[in-house]
Amino acid sequence: MIQAKKESKFKETVRLEGHIIDSLILPKVLDLILREEAKFRIASIQIGERPADPSWAEIEIEAPNAETLERLLQKLTPHGAIPLLQSDCETATADIDGCFPDNFYSTTNLTTEVRVAGEWIEVRELEMDCGIVIDRQGMQAYCRPMHRIKTGDEVVTGRLGVRVHPLERKVDDPASFKFMNSSVSSEKPKGITVRDIAEAMRETRHEGKRILLVGGPAIIHTGAAEHVCRMIRGGYIQVLFAGNALATHDIEQALMGTSLGVHLEKGVPMDEGHEHHLRAINRIRRLGGIRQAVDAGVLKSGIMYECIRHHVDTVLAGSIRDDGPLPDVITDCVAAVERMRDLREGVGFCLMVATMLHSVATGNILPASVRCACVDINPATVTKLADRGTSQSVGIVTDVEPFLRALVHELYC
Ligand SMILES: NC(=O)c1ccc[n+]([C@@H]2O[C@H](COP(=O)([O-])OP(=O)(O)OC[C@H]3O[C@@H](n4cnc5c(N)ncnc54)[C@H](O)[C@@H]3O)[C@@H](O)[C@H]2O)c1
Repeated sequence: MIQAKKESKFKETVRLEGHIIDSLILPKVLDLILREEAKFRIASIQIGERPADPSWAEIEIEAPNAETLERLLQKLTPHGAIPLLQSDCETATADIDGCFPDNFYSTTNLTTEVRVAGEWIEVRELEMDCGIVIDRQGMQAYCRPMHRIKTGDEVVTGRLGVRVHPLERKVDDPASFKFMNSSVSSEKPKGITVRDIAEAMRETRHEGKRILLVGGPAIIHTGAAEHVCRMIRGGYIQVLFAGNALATHDIEQALMGTSLGVHLEKGVPMDEGHEHHLRAINRIRRLGGIRQAVDAGVLKSGIMYECIRHHVDTVLAGSIRDDGPLPDVITDCVAAVERMRDLREGVGFCLMVATMLHSVATGNILPASVRCACVDINPATVTKLADRGTSQSVGIVTDVEPFLRALVHELYC
């Protein structure tokens, strides 16, 4: 605990270890200390001599008061700083369903461990903005969203006995994106980034992990659906998260050749074309759902058709602007995210394309260990995702159609 020392100073020694030099973790931590108007002294340090060697440092922090020290230690936790003298994590019992106790520890998406009965255990089902529930009997710790808390759950509070492993950028690490942490810009050579994404997708497949596509309706409007179909047929997509719009316009295209009433081959708006997507939704609703439409031989092409044929696990999450919606859309948003949580298991790579809503929602539930690429024509969407904490995401500012065309070319040629 933080205690006033004789000279009424508030001190704590923290330890950092890993690739703290090449990941720039050490300078970030020292900068944070100075920004809080605290002081530091590097009590001891060892710097790895070869790129693969890890380093460590023990830093003595001296703050002007207890509140500053506490705030600072909270800020340092996501960078992997842990107090030298460790104790078990502190907990409190949840007293109402659906609420954390006050002072609950709020998670990041970075690999996290908690100390229970002197042992460090890794938190399972990790995602950001949740709490941690301890199962002492099973010696397990689970990340839990607020609404799933039950009265009597033992919830971690404060920051003691919590250890976070920041993302490290190691030199020549094949497991990290070459373009990781690169800032979002529309002025970067896209070819290299597309090649890196294709390589990451191949690696993910090779590791036996799954690839998740999060997609918006611009994929259909821009005529890029066939690129996605090719990726599904080639085994490059195992999970799809989208909304009513992507599925609706995809089915509209399959049934009528238009997307939002615009003929995709002729590029012209069709008479009464604005009704096409409603007629498409109505057709599917009459048949009971997308799978039934495929079974009945009504739906014979498109992304949703390929998803059914190739057993792609799909979540269509609803929104308040949806027409219809299609019977497959989960309109209870809490239930939709729960289904997304079920399907994130085994995902090693996530490609987010032209949807802000579903990309941010997906970014929120993925651990930082899952590499992500976010593609959008608007830099603000890509930046927003990184700002929300999905720092493992690389952003590409471009139109979705040429991007997907280039990606398919990289994957197959
Ligand atoms: N008729 C309907 O039922 C209907 C229609 C539209 C949206 N919706 C639903 O509303 C919700 C939000 O919709 P959303 O995901 O479209 O909106 P969104 O605002 O979340 O995202 C759209 C994104 O696509 C990007 N974009 C547009 N054109 C692009 C292009 N050519 N290349 C690359 N990026 C491009 C935009 O910049 C934006 O960031 C979803 O759940 C969707 O299903 C329903």
